[in-house]
Amino acid sequence: MTLPINAYFKGKIIPYSEAKIGILTHGFNYGTAVFAGIRAYWNAEHQQLYLFRPLDHYQRFLNSAKLLQMDLGETPQSLTQITIDLLRRDGYKQDIYIRPIAYKADETIGVRLHNLHDEFAIAALPFERYIQNDTSAHVTFSSWRRVDDNMIPARGKISGAYVNSAFIKTDAVLSGYDEALVLTQDGHVSEGSAMNVFIVKDGVLITPPVTDNILEGIIRRSVIELAQTELKLSVVERSIDRTEVYLCDELFLTGSAAQIVAITQIDHRPIGKGKMGEITAQLRLLFDDAIRARLPGYTKWNTAVYDKI
Ligand SMILES: Cc1ncc(COP(=O)(O)O)c(C=O)c1O
Repeated sequence: MTLPINAYFKGKIIPYSEAKIGILTHGFNYGTAVFAGIRAYWNAEHQQLYLFRPLDHYQRFLNSAKLLQMDLGETPQSLTQITIDLLRRDGYKQDIYIRPIAYKADETIGVRLHNLHDEFAIAALPFERYIQNDTSAHVTFSSWRRVDDNMIPARGKISGAYVNSAFIKTDAVLSGYDEALVLTQDGHVSEGSAMNVFIVKDGVLITPPVTDNILEGIIRRSVIELAQTELKLSVVERSIDRTEVYLCDELFLTGSAAQIVAITQIDHRPIGKGKMGEITAQLRLLFDDAIRARLPGYTKWNTAVYDKI
């Protein structure tokens, strides 16, 4: 992976190689940090780089920070502007992944949230595919359970909670799968290791509700809108049983890193006809147009980085 050129660090844009934290930093030791994963997409025809829904990402970032009793003194708008400044300085003309992180910055011993000061940093780097096989992925049900709202709030993008995601991902990949679905403590489908999940049954799109320990995904929200408005589908947010997944017609994952990944097998059972379904394929095409500012009616989601030439 190519390293970022620059980073926003302690209030300034500096070379990435100079953006360093000490090994005793609280966020590094105890996972007391929150982050975001935002994409910017290059449109060669427009000669423009478009951030996808940065205000929504930064609103969730600030909400995650609030859960950890952080006050960054920023707004979604100010964070978006910093991101634009950073991307302009970098000058990228390709698809980019942006990683903002806010962390308890004291170099001290003692696990807590209070009486600590917060800092945040942003780095951006070229990024292509997160899951190589995004058209016929084979997934498994993880033997791990998703973190619960009363353990580490799943609706916050909290760094420490990603050890749960790492267990889920690594056990799946080392067993030969592309990804895993993870269940809640009471056995309902929650999501993937770092992506939301949808099933299609009899033409209806079904996805777990925000109360089933999911991260409230921006791509999830975008897909719901595209499905309802463009494909005129009904979308239902409700708990999903494990065996509903075995019997569904289509299954896919959504996320800023993963985009829309078609799953065609779960635990060696074919999903539907065993190949990418019609609705998944249509949503992938719509989504690809939407992220590159090519979909009329959806340019509200695209924030141009460079000044018009
Ligand atoms: C645990 C988890 N679930 C779901 C998602 C998908 O969220 P989004 O669509 O906002 O990227 C992510 C990725 O950010 C994630 O880390």
